[in-house]
Amino acid sequence: MNYKLYLPTAAILEKVEAETHNIKTFFLKPAEPIPFLAGQFVELTIPGLGEAPFTPSSSPAVQDRMEITIMRVGTVTERLHALQPGAQIGIRGPLGQPYPLENFKDKEVLIVGGGVGLAPLRALLFALFADLDNYKKVIVRYGTRTPQDIIYKKVVEKAWGKAKSLDVMVTVDKGDEQWKGNQGVVTTILEKKYLKVAPSKGVAVVCGPPIMMKFATFKLLKIGYAPENIYLSMEKNMSCGIGKCGHCRLGQYYACKDGPVFSYDRIKDLPQIWD
Ligand SMILES: Cc1cc2nc3c(=O)[nH]c(=O)nc-3n(C[C@H](O)[C@H](O)[C@H](O)COP(=O)(O)OP(=O)(O)OC[C@H]3O[C@@H](n4cnc5c(N)ncnc54)[C@H](O)[C@@H]3O)c2cc1C
Ligand code: FES
Repeated sequence: MNYKLYLPTAAILEKVEAETHNIKTFFLKPAEPIPFLAGQFVELTIPGLGEAPFTPSSSPAVQDRMEITIMRVGTVTERLHALQPGAQIGIRGPLGQPYPLENFKDKEVLIVGGGVGLAPLRALLFALFADLDNYKKVIVRYGTRTPQDIIYKKVVEKAWGKAKSLDVMVTVDKGDEQWKGNQGVVTTILEKKYLKVAPSKGVAVVCGPPIMMKFATFKLLKIGYAPENIYLSMEKNMSCGIGKCGHCRLGQYYACKDGPVFSYDRIKDLPQIWD
């Protein structure tokens, strides 16, 4: 039995950085290294309160530290947002299945993120950046509600735009006076004029709120991506995280154990996948 599936590793909160009004990045130092692969998740434990699942947003190559970007939505995340550096929490995992990077080799990889959904994709981006020569091109299309909701602002606007084999575009539903970029939901920047790709030969990865995942997936299918080449991170309500409690049931699958990463062809005929 792998005891790490059940027993959290103690971790110290070293630093907290605010990303937006309701999203913070937590810099954690676990008592022992936690190796994970892009797409896998962990359960963060607050002693006496409970656990919640999150995907590390830091590089999988770094095992002695872990960054996790978290939106404040309810009980556990509210408490996490109130923590100060020095606090001790637990990290259980890694859990679930990673992105199958071997299927991405020599292909154009399109990453589509919505809101805080860019956070789980950041670990994947780090994994791709570490090996950029292995991929034809990495394209990022990211959408948020307003310019104030963009996470990793400095990196998104500066560093990513400069890498050669990297093509980044950001859109906001509604801009402000300073906003010079595209306005509209993320599917508007998946239009041909903004996306120079060969969809039938590429892979796409989508993460964000369910409604965004649904419309982004339909758009990708429309422009020619094959269902088996669209990868979705299914953030279903979870509890045990190890296929025992049934909370995350997705047809014949458990999102925690068989996912959270699924290619669209595996789940497309299941009921209520976008709920
Ligand atoms: C595999 C996985 C990876 C995730 N990665 C991240 C991440 O990197 N960053 C991040 O901010 N969030 C992530 N989430 C979502 C995160 O787990 C939830 O926001 C968290 O569990 C909410 O806990 P809470 O106690 O604060 O909220 P609760 O008090 O439990 O709920 C508050 C509200 O949030 C909704 N909610 C609760 N759990 C989830 C959930 N799992 N998914 C969607 N809505 C939920 C509830 O329906 C309710 O409306 C991930 C979820 C999964 C399953
Ligand atoms: S969270 Fe318990 S079975 Fe998936």
